[in-house]
Amino acid sequence: MEFEPSPNVTRGLFDHLVGAYALGRGGLHGEDHWLRVLRNGREVAAETGANLRVVELFALLHDSKRENEDYDPKHGHRAAEHARSLRGEWFDADDREMDLLLEACRYHADGRVHGDPTVGTCWDADRLDLPRVGILPDPRRLCTEYAKRREVIDAACERAWRNG
Ligand SMILES: [Fe+2]
Ligand SMILES: [Fe+2]
Repeated sequence: MEFEPSPNVTRGLFDHLVGAYALGRGGLHGEDHWLRVLRNGREVAAETGANLRVVELFALLHDSKRENEDYDPKHGHRAAEHARSLRGEWFDADDREMDLLLEACRYHADGRVHGDPTVGTCWDADRLDLPRVGILPDPRRLCTEYAKRREVIDAACERAWRNG
């Protein structure tokens, strides 16, 4: 899947994150995953009223500080710190957007659901890409009504399986 920049997430930001990613290309949590989360997030956000800037930034940042492909329970917290360090230089966000982005990054891997439409959309965009590791997204563990739709889950599975 090709990266499609937007006013929120530039080519420069994407290239910077890919270049700095410790686990390199081709892994389960690297750029292919980020791009599918971005794709999922843009679709879900259009239906949920989520803040698109937060959702797009989450997609590229949430796994950017993983240190391994398996058990890495603090990677969300490191992603939040990373986001904080890049703000103003690589992307812009106001204080409210930053709060949502940090919350979404910190707790994205804890298996919770979230009532805020922006945080919920971020987490759903990520979980809709679980089929890449052989896990079918469980509607009970998705946050937004839109992402729980059978056809939305099926289409996300299709993309994850063909890595596109
Ligand atoms: Fe993650
Ligand atoms: Fe992820």
